Amino acid sequence: MNNMERPKRAPVPRATDTTLTREYYVSPEIFEREIEKVFFKQWTFAGHVSQIPNVGDYFLHTFAGESLIIVRESAEIVRAHHNVCRHRGSQLTKAESGNVKLFVCPYHQWSYALDGGLKRAPMMPDVECIDYDKLALKSASAEVWAGMIFINLSPKPEQTLVEALGEPPAGLLKLEPENIREIRRDQLVVRGNWKTLLENYLECYHCAGSHPELGIAFDIQSSFDQTATWGGACFLGGEPLRKGFVTVSMTGDLVSKPLGRHAEDANLQLEVAEGLGLLPVLTRVLFHVDHAIIHVMNPLSVNEVQWTTIWYVRKDAVEGVDYEADRVTEVWRATNLEDKELCERNYKGVLSRTFVPGPLNPRAEGAVRPVLNHYLEMME
Ligand code: FES
Ligand SMILES: [Fe+2]
Repeated sequence: MNNMERPKRAPVPRATDTTLTREYYVSPEIFEREIEKVFFKQWTFAGHVSQIPNVGDYFLHTFAGESLIIVRESAEIVRAHHNVCRHRGSQLTKAESGNVKLFVCPYHQWSYALDGGLKRAPMMPDVECIDYDKLALKSASAEVWAGMIFINLSPKPEQTLVEALGEPPAGLLKLEPENIREIRRDQLVVRGNWKTLLENYLECYHCAGSHPELGIAFDIQSSFDQTATWGGACFLGGEPLRKGFVTVSMTGDLVSKPLGRHAEDANLQLEVAEGLGLLPVLTRVLFHVDHAIIHVMNPLSVNEVQWTTIWYVRKDAVEGVDYEADRVTEVWRATNLEDKELCERNYKGVLSRTFVPGPLNPRAEGAVRPVLNHYLEMME
């Protein structure tokens, strides 16, 4: 797909739209089908290039129950290998991150190159017994887009990420997204179906009543129009800030040094809101002028979902001088905890056998049904 064809505009929501019927949120059989039809088919955020600057650097990443080794094979190539030995299936590594020349299985010492190829299988009578060419590590797809590493569990996705999103927009590149550094990561387990959390993120109908911190920083009314463009497998764009705010913070003032080429801007009154979303298992990337936030959803089971939020500042920013991590994270830390409680309470109600979905607000919940329709298309 080229830039002319994106972003896919969502169908206009109707007043009779609802969320899904109860079984979609509670059925283990449907969750099993989602693994194959959705979780193994879509792009999702895995990490940032700053985690693996050198050849051989790797980190472990888990998505949909799969452990993946995200490794830098060369300056240009990042790979995502399943952490599963091709001999009898042992996990190759437990270390969350490291640097290796080869991955050596701790069980019988089969070894694999960074590209996943089997290099050595000790004491196996090579040629008669095993075909090295057929015993490379199984791999997912990995792409680096604007300094961020994304994976798709399918080795041959229907669309590459750049086909889906297009090239990174100029406004994002000005922020130099490759030159940022992680400063904090929160991982919450929400006791609910992942689609309950998805629906909650897709609408800001609940924001005024439940998110005092978010209401200070974001322009909630404008966000209704923003979300109306969300749909399909992905979308581009950030979130509109309150008038006069230059970033997401409790005061609207900068919470760290401006990112990228904005450090040279004499006047930062300009609102910067860049980002993207991947659907339906949500990845949400938000770049503001001085920091970035990435939310990643990881379904654990039919009734549990992990919600990870990672905060980044420019890589040369110094804690205590240029930023305080508590200030950078204040708005979304509070918001995440509020959303966890809302979602868990929502899910308890959905578990009732009496639950039938009611009508969605066509404006304030306008993105919910188009995204659920995309999910249903994937499930067919
Ligand atoms: S399971 Fe890995 S070498 Fe045997
Ligand atoms: Fe919320």
